[in-house]
Amino acid sequence: MSPCELHPSKERLAVSVQPTHEQATHEKMKLVNICFLSLAIFVGYSVTQEETAEDLAKFKEFKKRHKKTYNGALERVHFKRWKKRRAVIDDHNNQNRPFLLGENIYSDLSEEEWDTYLLGVKIPKEFVNTEEVVVPPESAVQSVGNRQTLPSLDLRNHTCMPPVKIQSPCGGCWAFIATAAVEFQTCIANNGTKTPLLLSEQQLIDCSSSYGTKGCSGGFYSQAWDYLMAIGGQASNATYPYKAAVGNCSFVKDVTPTVGKISRYSFLAKNETAILTAVQKGPIAVSIVTNSNFTLYKSGIFDDDTCKNGTVNHGVLIVGYGRTNSTDYWIVRNSWGTSWGMSGYIFMKRNVNICRIAEYAFLATI
Ligand SMILES: *[C@@H]1O[C@H](CO)[C@@H](O)[C@H](O)[C@H]1NC(C)=O
Ligand SMILES: *[C@@H]1O[C@H](CO)[C@@H](O)[C@H](O)[C@H]1NC(C)=O
Ligand SMILES: *[C@@H]1O[C@H](CO)[C@@H](O)[C@H](O)[C@H]1NC(C)=O
Ligand SMILES: *[C@@H]1O[C@H](CO)[C@@H](O)[C@H](O)[C@H]1NC(C)=O
Ligand SMILES: *[C@@H]1O[C@H](CO)[C@@H](O)[C@H](O)[C@H]1NC(C)=O
Ligand SMILES: *[C@@H]1O[C@H](CO)[C@@H](O)[C@H](O)[C@H]1NC(C)=O
Ligand SMILES: *[C@@H]1O[C@H](CO)[C@@H](O)[C@H](O)[C@H]1NC(C)=O
Ligand SMILES: *[C@@H]1O[C@H](CO)[C@@H](O)[C@H](O)[C@H]1NC(C)=O
Repeated sequence: MSPCELHPSKERLAVSVQPTHEQATHEKMKLVNICFLSLAIFVGYSVTQEETAEDLAKFKEFKKRHKKTYNGALERVHFKRWKKRRAVIDDHNNQNRPFLLGENIYSDLSEEEWDTYLLGVKIPKEFVNTEEVVVPPESAVQSVGNRQTLPSLDLRNHTCMPPVKIQSPCGGCWAFIATAAVEFQTCIANNGTKTPLLLSEQQLIDCSSSYGTKGCSGGFYSQAWDYLMAIGGQASNATYPYKAAVGNCSFVKDVTPTVGKISRYSFLAKNETAILTAVQKGPIAVSIVTNSNFTLYKSGIFDDDTCKNGTVNHGVLIVGYGRTNSTDYWIVRNSWGTSWGMSGYIFMKRNVNICRIAEYAFLATI
């Protein structure tokens, strides 16, 4: 097989789906570029010093672990990136930092692919540069105001917490954040079902564009909740399965069965004490600035100044907090599967507005 045959679907990540026509065209263009590059590398490929047998064996393990296959010369492109990332990881881990980096299923992708397939928060204009707004006025936070705040809280293994999901390859983090909150709150309202609910992110991706969302090109969790409150509820993932690509909306109001809902949400004060109070009531949707250290995070308490002044680009959920080694931290849930971080979760330093985590915090409730 020629190294430059175009097989966009083989290049896709964890979720294998047929690309839409538009996406396929886009990917073909990208692959053509990669192919020119690879061909150049391919031609000059006789120097073997830079890849030791050990590297190649480790890369083989990586491919096996994450079920990766590449076509022709693309293998070398991915190998080189993976190797570069291994060096970054090893270098970081030798520096005695409070957190470690590690390999995950995304270690062989370009930064452009990270941006396109893993993120997807776009803050609506009305929430930028505003002081805290409470929407709607009857604040859910007021109702938790008198509740005791616990010294630590960990909802990761709560009966209502669904397993960590995988958004990739789709910039739809906003739909995963919105859905996880609805899954948790609906389950609580049902007095804790035996297994967590699994609701349809795809419904939000396909159907909520008139509320401001843009499918796999970004959106915001409050827009998804606005849609759900208007339409009456959220279907299960079984009814409306995830495809990791935008499709035509097939949800029909009052016809498609729904299993999840919320009734209100609040925009929390830009203050980590407010978040601490609110998380007693359930997961808190937040937006953060990500960087390469975040994308390669493995364990420990994430504490990195370099994401302080960046653009908010990713949505995650705060699902608890604690204190260890004299450091306060948040327990944060991502939607990048379990190969990333600590089985899909990260500890992020608390009370320093890390990666701007406290600026767009929302609580949804029934
Ligand atoms: C990531 O961590 C390293 C330390 O290993 C640090 O030098 C770097 O500035 C951090 N940020 C980025 C974006 O790499
Ligand atoms: C959650 O459950 C898993 C599997 O039972 C267990 O390994 C893990 O220690 C638990 N985590 C917490 C924080 O309780
Ligand atoms: C949940 O439990 C409460 C108190 O035990 C009860 O009043 C309520 O009807 C239950 N709700 C559901 C949906 O089972
Ligand atoms: C949701 O549906 C898709 C498509 O059927 C499936 O691949 C995925 O595993 C489901 N998600 C969960 C969390 O079960
Ligand atoms: C959406 O529907 C239109 C018109 O029926 C069709 O042409 C198009 O292929 C559909 N798109 C997807 C992604 O299914
Ligand atoms: C955050 O809120 C707490 C309690 O309401 C208040 O004491 C504190 O001053 C606030 N912090 C900031 C930075 O506004
Ligand atoms: C706390 O410090 C110990 C010893 O340095 C380390 O092994 C452990 O991983 C740290 N815990 C966290 C959560 O970072
Ligand atoms: C972030 O911006 C603030 C204010 O603009 C500045 O004082 C600070 O040095 C910047 N920090 C970094 C890490 O760039």
